[in-house]
Amino acid sequence: MGLAMCVGDKSNGFLRFGIVGLGVGATAVFSALSRSRYSTLVAGADTDGHVRRRFSERFPDSRAYESIEDLCADDSIDAIWISTPNRLHADHAVTAANAKKHVIISKPMTTTLGDAERIIEACERNQVKLIAGHSLGFSPAITEMARLTQPGQALGQVRAVQLVAFTDWMLLPRTAEEVDEKLGGGIIHRQSPHQIDAIRLLCGGKVDSVRAHVGSWMPERQAPGFFTAFLQFENGAVGTASHNAYGHLVTSEIVDWGKDVGISGCDVKQRAAARTALRNRSLDEDALKDSMRVGGAAPLFDTLKKRRAWLPLHLGLTFVSCDHGDLRHSPHGVYMYWDEGRTEVPVGDDASWFGFSEIEELYRAVAMGEEVYRDGYWGMATLEVALAIQQSSESRKEIKLRYQTGIRPNALKAASRNTPHNSNCVGCLKRKTQ
Ligand SMILES: NC(=O)c1ccc[n+]([C@@H]2O[C@H](COP(=O)([O-])OP(=O)(O)OC[C@H]3O[C@@H](n4cnc5c(N)ncnc54)[C@H](O)[C@@H]3O)[C@@H](O)[C@H]2O)c1
Repeated sequence: MGLAMCVGDKSNGFLRFGIVGLGVGATAVFSALSRSRYSTLVAGADTDGHVRRRFSERFPDSRAYESIEDLCADDSIDAIWISTPNRLHADHAVTAANAKKHVIISKPMTTTLGDAERIIEACERNQVKLIAGHSLGFSPAITEMARLTQPGQALGQVRAVQLVAFTDWMLLPRTAEEVDEKLGGGIIHRQSPHQIDAIRLLCGGKVDSVRAHVGSWMPERQAPGFFTAFLQFENGAVGTASHNAYGHLVTSEIVDWGKDVGISGCDVKQRAAARTALRNRSLDEDALKDSMRVGGAAPLFDTLKKRRAWLPLHLGLTFVSCDHGDLRHSPHGVYMYWDEGRTEVPVGDDASWFGFSEIEELYRAVAMGEEVYRDGYWGMATLEVALAIQQSSESRKEIKLRYQTGIRPNALKAASRNTPHNSNCVGCLKRKTQ
């Protein structure tokens, strides 16, 4: 593994990353690595030669490989971030673990519980760390909400969490497998982990049962673009999550600092044009998707980075009901409604956090021996909920769960430390009560 323990000197690259799958999701990881003080990008792998060329142009000091096997044969790499299509996550994670590389997997961890077990077993056998990452469920505001509702805090116990998202996910350019549910596509596999992680973090982690409905009503896209789910927790709390990804309405226009823009940054007229083009089959989706990847004309995460204030996006409007008050997002943090009125708890810039916290978490685990808190068991439990959403919708029955895990005791402290904002100002949060 050869981790160079020269803390503070990035030129020595003490946690050296390779990324497999240099697509849209990976662009967030490049950006996060460039901001990390303790980790660095040394190589990437992608089967697409065109993408590899653009990666090499953008990162001339990094090596570009054609396969996960070649990437894993590079002795200078300590950790591999897996950002390939969902159906490949398990094989790629096992290959990386067998090569003694630490592993971060973009959500979803994988698509079956058997594959999740396979990944956990390979990482444990090879004694490498595993993080099930890239989920808005661990974003700074959600982490802060969870902290504000811990025992001993003024708000008391969480009783209910409601998340409502309307996005344009189905209108964005998609590869064929992204909209094929059998291959791990569609809104359940791709987007439900954000909401499930958030609700689990706020309600103690252990879901007892799930009742859900999944919808698919856009003829141009076969995979589901809607779900609504009711999660009953072991501790009595309940959570509801819903996501409509068809892009007519987007929740970003509902917050009073928001605008009518979807994930794509498009307003309602542009979204209508995209829908018409999908219907007419006049959209070159492959070319448009390619333009959002590394070195392309319209990298998605460069658009997201420009948004300074929080927007609901894939997570949705979030409401937390507690014994003595309620919580929701504010533009740069959390509004706490309690007996004293409304208090804003700032948490900093949401967009700069994406990808960064997993990299910091892995660094702390490898170099400082800290516990990983979004580990394989957490990821497997979130996957179990996602699969139960599908099963419940098909059977019209409540599904009981078996693989749920609670929140590790130090998770919230660690999560709030692993943000660019909090590395500077965790001790100087200003609270303003109106
Ligand atoms: N699109 C997003 O906004 C986003 C955000 C966060 C996470 N993710 C996650 O990232 C993953 C990929 O999604 P994406 O949108 O980046 O897709 P994408 O198609 O843009 O990227 C996938 C890349 O993997 C490459 N690839 C395919 N098979 C490969 C193989 N066998 N070996 C090496 N490379 C291979 C493809 O050539 C492509 O460049 C998914 O798990 C998704 O959930 C995506």
